[in-house]
Amino acid sequence: MTIKSITPFLWFDSCAEEAANFYVSLFPDSRITHVSRYGDAGPGPAGSVMVVAFELCGRPFLALNGGPHQKLSEAFSMMVECTDQADIERLHSAAMFHDIGKAKIPLAVLDKPGRLDDDERALIETHPATGYDALKGNADISPEILDAVRHHHEYLDGSGYPDGLCSESITDVVRMLTISDIFAALIEERHYKPAMPRDRAYEILKSMHGKLEMPLVAAFREVALTR
Ligand SMILES: [Fe+2]
Repeated sequence: MTIKSITPFLWFDSCAEEAANFYVSLFPDSRITHVSRYGDAGPGPAGSVMVVAFELCGRPFLALNGGPHQKLSEAFSMMVECTDQADIERLHSAAMFHDIGKAKIPLAVLDKPGRLDDDERALIETHPATGYDALKGNADISPEILDAVRHHHEYLDGSGYPDGLCSESITDVVRMLTISDIFAALIEERHYKPAMPRDRAYEILKSMHGKLEMPLVAAFREVALTR
């Protein structure tokens, strides 16, 4: 017998598709490859999802809605080997600190309902440099985090602030942070605006050609629409 490949097969009660969508949202190079449905012969309801085929980091998996006969066990787990854990930690730290400069902006401006006037807008736009100045003397803050704090409002076309950086000068971590920061600002409810639906917020990201890195925006899609 020649075995070409082995595919893990996961049994769910009725949430195979939801689980597969969640898994593919977590990892790069991941996708749903096929969804088959029960017919009139059952045993599941006709038209409901039977098997979801999906790939995680290019590896095949199958998820079955097999009903309540076999419970998914916590004993099953996936070990994920990251080639660069440091990258993940850098992005996490950068995300934690990026808006720290807003601590110096009066709440009356930060939470102002309605449009900001020119002076208020200029004040808000000081927060990246203010955060950078507050952290730059701290030996525990890496240069990459300082870079993210100062440059998370820069755009690839040079139209951002505070330094008007262009594409090559903006690091990958900062590019990713900028995308997730804009998305979060759109979907979160603030004192001055309601939350925007995730699909509309993602369309805005896609419309920002020239400013955001579109391959990163595409990679962000699963996170944006399925979480
Ligand atoms: Fe910011």
